Amino acid sequence: MGAASDPGAASDAARGVLEARGITKSFGDRLANDHVDLTVHRGEIRALLGENGAGKTTLISVLCGQYQPDGGLVTVHGRTLTLGSPRAALQAGIGVVHQDFRLVPRFTVTENVVLGTKAWGGPKDEDTVAAQASAAGFRLDPRAPAWALSVGELQQLAILKLLFRGLEILILDEPTAVLSPPQAAELFKSMRTLAAAGKSIIFITHRLREVGAVASEVTILRQGKVVADRAVAGLDAQQMSVLMIGSSDAGGRVETRPGAAGDVVLRLEAVTVEGRSVRALDDMHLEVRRGEIVGVAGISGNGQTALAEVAAGIIRPVSGRRESAAAAVAYIPEDRLNRGLVGAMSVTDNLALRRYTSRAMSHPLWIWTDRMTALARRLIDAFNIPVRKPSTRVADLSGGGLQRVLLARELSEQPDLIIAAQPTRGLDVASAAMVREQLVRHRDRGAGVMLISEDLDEVLELSDRVLVLFKGAVVGEYSRGKLNRAEIGLRMGGEGAA
Ligand SMILES: Nc1ncnc2c1ncn2[C@@H]1O[C@H](COP(=O)(O)OP(=O)(O)OP(=O)(O)O)[C@@H](O)[C@H]1O
Ligand SMILES: [Mg+2]
Repeated sequence: MGAASDPGAASDAARGVLEARGITKSFGDRLANDHVDLTVHRGEIRALLGENGAGKTTLISVLCGQYQPDGGLVTVHGRTLTLGSPRAALQAGIGVVHQDFRLVPRFTVTENVVLGTKAWGGPKDEDTVAAQASAAGFRLDPRAPAWALSVGELQQLAILKLLFRGLEILILDEPTAVLSPPQAAELFKSMRTLAAAGKSIIFITHRLREVGAVASEVTILRQGKVVADRAVAGLDAQQMSVLMIGSSDAGGRVETRPGAAGDVVLRLEAVTVEGRSVRALDDMHLEVRRGEIVGVAGISGNGQTALAEVAAGIIRPVSGRRESAAAAVAYIPEDRLNRGLVGAMSVTDNLALRRYTSRAMSHPLWIWTDRMTALARRLIDAFNIPVRKPSTRVADLSGGGLQRVLLARELSEQPDLIIAAQPTRGLDVASAAMVREQLVRHRDRGAGVMLISEDLDEVLELSDRVLVLFKGAVVGEYSRGKLNRAEIGLRMGGEGAA
């Protein structure tokens, strides 16, 4: 930071590359952003924090032109940005990496990168992509097809798309939610490299530890309002969570008494599932007993999705057998909106989805809508689903709200087998604690629980037994009391196998 002899540089340094002032956006009677101010400087990594529903996604949707706010102003390099226009945001240099990446599996890395630009993806573009990838510290083959990439690599590809367009303000919406700890560390390194090269990064996360690890500044939202805007230095996770929640009751660790394992409720025998790349399950053997939580640790892309779907009885293995003694199976899929819920339907209808045909809800000729509404009201209450009216469309809920609807529906029927895939992904601290408590409570009631999670801390905290999944097979098994974090971490990466 030199003396302010260059007036342009000086004013840019003082005023920030991006300045949002008084951003206000409501949905019906819900004020999602209430006069939000946000400033991002050149070369800065700014964390954006807040509980589920605090307004983070709404704010970045305004910044990238997806939403027209009701009020407020955004300037980039001092120039006023036309709001509500994705094109204007791109031209101003603002780019977002969404959680679902939005890539084309059949295309190569380069073809995905150039998609939507004037470039056609020839050798010259491949060279550019390769150079930009290595400058950012990504190890990506520009000619590899997207379907063959791991989640970590897909994310690098999504970031490359922004770099190729020369964008300067990069917004990452919960980028680490799908990454293992080493993959996240790698991403942080790249983020620092990019920031050092002058990019500005806005980074959304629910993992408070990560804020200290990579961000220099933090903005915290609570109920649509900014409650903190400051340097990260000198702020610990406890203080951040107090700011987010507005009280010191941060919810927290679940008491983890061991379970009392009973009869086998699910058995997979020599199960094999074909997949396009490493997705397949390969001769998998596994048992879940009543009254135990079996944690499945592993980096995503090692067969988790296939395992969850076979275990839940949704897909059939190519060979091998699934035996289940469960009368009711609850399934919490990782892809909530596509597999679990129907976005265009109301909260009531989603909650009743599994019960339409039950005697309590319907007669052969009609459906008891008042009973459904009553059921919905009860579950909205019990699971703290953040809606005022049961008739709200599920698609209008925040990420945390969606997960609560799904849990309420799946767990309210006293299942005796629960298959939970990434059940706390995207949830804030308090909501994640609620989910973990539910799993433990159902285990104590006698349900068998399979917890598939990339969050190793979560697996270690809750599980009575831990299996490590690597390339579609179990490469390690540990019982409670004999858990070895370092060894499990290595096996997740395919090392240290017996
Ligand atoms: N398209 C929409 N229609 C109606 N309400 C919406 C819409 N988008 C968001 N909301 C509401 O606005 C509020 C803020 O939601 P937002 O998605 O911005 O929260 P968030 O901080 O991103 O939460 P999460 O961590 O759960 O993703 C929530 O109450 C949400 O239900
Ligand atoms: Mg969000």
